[in-house]
This record gives sequence, structure tokens and C-alpha cells, in this order.
Amino acid sequence: MKAIKVDDYRLLARRRLPKVVFDFMEGGAEDERGLAHNRAVFDQVRFRPRRFVDVNKRTLETTLFGRSISAPLAIAPTGLNGLLRPQGDLTLAQAAAHAGIPFVLSTAASMSIEEIARGSDGDRWFQLYVVHREVADQLVQRALAADYSALVLTTDVSVNGFRERDMRNGFGLPFRYSPGLVIDGARHLRWSMDFLRTGVPQMANLSSPEAISPAAQAALMSRQMDASFGWDDLKRLRDRWPRTLIVKGLLDAEDAARCFELGVDGVILSNHGARQLDGAPSPLDVLQDTVKRVGPGCVMADSGFRRGSDVVKALAMGARLVLLGRAVLYGLAARGRFGVDDVLRMIKTEIDCTLAQIGCPSVTELAPAYIAEATPLARGSSPSPFA
Ligand code: FNR
Repeated sequence: MKAIKVDDYRLLARRRLPKVVFDFMEGGAEDERGLAHNRAVFDQVRFRPRRFVDVNKRTLETTLFGRSISAPLAIAPTGLNGLLRPQGDLTLAQAAAHAGIPFVLSTAASMSIEEIARGSDGDRWFQLYVVHREVADQLVQRALAADYSALVLTTDVSVNGFRERDMRNGFGLPFRYSPGLVIDGARHLRWSMDFLRTGVPQMANLSSPEAISPAAQAALMSRQMDASFGWDDLKRLRDRWPRTLIVKGLLDAEDAARCFELGVDGVILSNHGARQLDGAPSPLDVLQDTVKRVGPGCVMADSGFRRGSDVVKALAMGARLVLLGRAVLYGLAARGRFGVDDVLRMIKTEIDCTLAQIGCPSVTELAPAYIAEATPLARGSSPSPFA
């Protein structure tokens, strides 16, 4: 099939992956209303196109934290990418470097902080889960030593969301073979060949025995986060990490403001791709309030972005950057490096096309004036009917 949009890659990924793996990547929490809302919310935002503007030359380039990037995009942190493709994390990191955008490596990645640093020369951010304090301290030191330019603290996994697809499929860690998986694998031979060749992917940052204590390992295996992490801990982390510090998973303007008061450099509004709290708002629901509240603070967003026009909407509403989760994972799962490159190219092309259509020559000039005032979200007054 010729893929012309991200959704085509979704179909291709579904064809190539066993159901249990596709469901792990695709699934949301509980009834997956949040998953539907993350897409539906974009329909409520309409553009306000302007005419007689010279859009002959357009640019997606911008700067973030003192670095120039080719587009206001980054690859979001996702765990267990090795399940989709062997060395999936490295493929994503290299594709991001090639595209001139940051790549965020997950704590739960299948490749280690050091492997990714050796294999890619782009801008690398490291995402931190505080599963265990001692482990977190070690991860921070390793990211520092391996020249990651930013640390991204994820705050929305105090406990794991109920992902009912995974529960039904018996998907969990450690990864277990079940008769269902074997049959599923037999139907997806190309995926299975890779899997058999490279083995069950590990959480490489966490699995090396010398890196962590047995207590920490036990916490990790049960995927229990340290649910007591508070504002004082954030302050402490700020003191320990001298480079760019970003907090991910916020959905409240006051929380965002407090982060900036504590010296955080950027926040990512995110509902974790609707994988955690099914009734959470979309970042778009809270974006304008947050931007208003934090003033010049750098507000980014993810969750549900599949189109360049989605990205332009968020930028016009005040986001400085959008992180792509499943969109690039579809490309990775379906066609490896080619697929990730293609998805990034598609989204950039769609952003460019949208800029031309709305009469805006540069992503840096996007503003609420490009959003139709009749849009409830743009006014920030009436709540979304989906919320
Ligand atoms: C994630 N996400 C995530 N976030 C994080 O901080 N650490 C992680 O390890 C993971 N792992 C993970 C795995 C998979 C398979 C998915 C789909 C997502 C959340 C991710 O960073 C991002 O917030 C969402 O993916 C954004 O939503 P979309 O773009 O997938 O709709």
C-alpha cells in the first residue's frame, strides 16, 4: 500500500505487528474515551485564513532552548520500542537527528542511554521515570555524562493506567510466551523473524544488574513508580540537573506556573496519549489557559497529533513545540527507518501546506489570530463538549 498520510502507516503497522504488540502501542486507558477525545478535540478548532500575505517563502525553522531546530517537533519518549523493531530507539534517534529535531529517550527504552549517545549525533533528551530514587539519581548522572541536552521528568504515571487491551491480551512484563502469542506470531512472520533473531527486548537502562540494587529491580519489574514524588523533589532535581529541565504530563495551568517558579525550563502538556487517566482533558483543552498563566514560559504539547494541521493549531494556540508519539511509532513498526523518515516528512509537508493556506509565512509567527474566534477552544471560555 502506498502511504500518503500517517493513518496509512497505522494500517500498515497493524498488518505487520501481532495483535498483542499493536494493542500495546495503540491502546488507551479503560474505555478509551480519552483516546477518541484526543483526536476529536482537533475538529473543534478551525483556522482563520488570511489573504494577501506573501507566503511564497515559508519556514518551519525555529529555536528552542537556544538551539535551532528544523521544525517545532520532537519525537516523544516511548518505552519498549524494541518490540516494534529491533533497535527501534536508535532508528528513531537517527531519524530525528536526520530531520533536525530532538529525540527523547525513555527510561523504559529497549536501548541504553549510552548506546543511543554512541549511535546518534542529534539533540538528545532523556525522559526520567522516578521508579526508585536511587535508580533515578543514577539515570540522571548517566544522562549528564552521555551529553543529553535536556531532562524530561514524566509526572503522570504515579500508577499505571488500566490498559484493558493489555489486560485482555495478557501483555505484561516480564514478557511471557502464551499459546495466543505463538499463533499471533505465526500470522505475522516478518515480525516474528525479527523477534526470534534479536530476542525479547529488555528495558536496557534498568536491566543491568550492576546499575541498580535488588530492591530497585523488584520495583522496576512490578513497574511501580515512586508515587510520593513532590514539589520538594522537583526542586532537588532542579539542583542536580544543570541543563534544560522539562516537566511532562501536566494538565493544569497552576501546576505549570509552579514548575516555572521552581526554575523548570519548559513544560509538556500531555495526557500520555490517553494511556493513563481516561477522563483527562486533552492538552488542547488547557493550552490557552496555561500559556496565559505562564507568560513567556515554554509550553509544549503532545497527545493525539497525527497531522501537520494539528501541529499548526497547537502552535497558533501558544505551544512552542509538539511531540509525536504513535505517529512515528506507526512508521517505525510498518517500515523501519524509511517509515519514520516518511512520517516526519509528511507532517512537515502538511505543516508547510497549512502555513501557506492560512497565510502565515513562518511557524514563529503563528498566533491565536489564525484560529477562528467562533471556536470554543480558541476563546478558552466554553468547555469542550467532549471533556
Ligand atoms: C508512551 N508514552 C511514554 N511517555 C513517557 O514519558 N515515557 C514512556 O516510557 C512512554 N512510553 C510510551 C509507550 C507507548 C507505546 C506510547 C504510545 C506512549 C507517552 C508518550 O511520550 C506521549 O506522551 C504520547 O505517545 C503522545 O500521544 P500520541 O502522540 O501517541 O497520541
